[in-house]
This record gives sequence, structure tokens and C-alpha cells, in this order.
Amino acid sequence: MNSAIIVAAGSGERFRSEIPKQFLEINGRPLIEWTVERVHAAPSVDLIILVLAEDHIHRFDELRAGFPKLTAIVAGGQSRAESVGKGLAAVAADCEIVAVHDGARPLVSVDEIERTISAARSTGAACLVASVTDTIKSIHSGEIAATLDRDKLRRALTPQAFRVEILKRAFESAGLTNAVTDECYLVEKLGHPIAIVEGSASNIKITHPEDLVLAEALMETVRGTPAG
Ligand code: CTP
Ligand code: MG
Repeated sequence: MNSAIIVAAGSGERFRSEIPKQFLEINGRPLIEWTVERVHAAPSVDLIILVLAEDHIHRFDELRAGFPKLTAIVAGGQSRAESVGKGLAAVAADCEIVAVHDGARPLVSVDEIERTISAARSTGAACLVASVTDTIKSIHSGEIAATLDRDKLRRALTPQAFRVEILKRAFESAGLTNAVTDECYLVEKLGHPIAIVEGSASNIKITHPEDLVLAEALMETVRGTPAG
């Protein structure tokens, strides 16, 4: 039995909309509904735990009926890591793999979810990644200090998937500071190997308003169907 935790309890400070970005509509449906639909369509995901800010849990009431795998909606915390921790506490005892996914990534494909869970089954931990297309510079005191070898760099996407006991151990042994922006960071600290799974650049995270425009366009072209 595998579970997915979808974290959507953030306030979207960078997006600056009146209601949090995850409840804004993309092509006529709330963003979070697209995300839940994609995760729900993944055959390897048996149960879904959705993490929402306490004040916004009611917004999902009407949508819930369409998603039988969605067994729990739990209140999130102050940081993303805290929200994941609360979701993790709701994972059933017989769960083997847990996949953590950003609610703000509605363009994830079923194939990406399946490949990430499969890699976690063999390695214990797996991270969906995308290549870096720009030339990346490290900076120091307002000047360029070096050019990094982008062939050795990847952007961490979600889902990230883990054997449950590994993720639990990672959460117990690390302090949840602001540096923790993904779960792999915690598992890296444990020293456990993490497999990379090459994902698509169209699995964008809605962060700024222009991302919503891009998501609408991508939804209609590149990844038209939930199974795509
Ligand atoms: N998230 C969460 N709980 C938090 C913070 C973030 O569940 N306390 C979720 C967000 O809802 C989002 C995902 O983690 O789906 C990725 O976070 P991010 O894109 O940074 O969203 P926000 O934190 O909401 O945005 P911002 O950082 O601009 O405030
Ligand atoms: Mg954030």
C-alpha cells in the first residue's frame, strides 16, 4: 500500500493573490483539484492525504466526493516541512512508499508519479528532477565568482518518494529549519542514497502570477489529459 501526501497549506506570499494560489482557477477548475486529479489517476497511489490550511479545509468539501482515494484532509503547519510532517503523521501503519507532492504542481504526469514511486521501491528514496537549461553562476559580493557545470545540476521537482520508515527517520533526526524546502534535503542529511528520476520541465510549480498563464497554456497543449 502506497500513499501520497499533497501539501497545499501555504499562503502563497510570492503570488500575492487574495485567496491562496492553490484555490485559483486554471481553465475553470481550482488549481488544487487538477493536482489531486493527477495524483489520483496514478495506479501506484492507493491513498491520498491532502494537507490544507485549517481555514481553507472547507474549500475542498464539495470536491472531495470525486476522489475516493482521498481518505484524509489534515491541517498544515507554518512551513512546508511542518505541513509534510503533519501529513506523515496521518499515513497508515501498513504504508510502504509515501510520495510527497506540491499542491502547487498541477501539471505533474501520471508517468512521473509512477516512475518516482517505482525508483523509491528499489532505492528507498527517489527525487523527480529536471535539467538546468540556463548557465548558472555562483556569486559573491555582487560579482560572479564561478560558472557551475550545469550537466551536474538538476532542479528538484515533486513528487519525491520514500520508504515510509526512511522519511520518518529523516524527520525525527533533523531540525526543521527554513533551509528545509524539500524532503530529500532531510534524507540527504541521513546519508541515505536518493535515486534521481528525470522529469519534465512542464511540471512547473505555480509560484508567481505568470506561472498560472503558463499552466493554462501547458494544460491545453503538452499535457492535455489527466493520464498524460
Ligand atoms: N506549503 C504547505 N504548508 C506551508 C507552506 C507551503 O503545505 N506552510 C505547500 C504549498 O501550499 C505548496 C507547496 O508547499 O503547494 C510548495 O510551496 P510554495 O510553492 O513555496 O507555496 P507557498 O509557501 O504557499 O508560497 P510562498 O513561498 O510564495 O509563500
Ligand atoms: Mg513557500
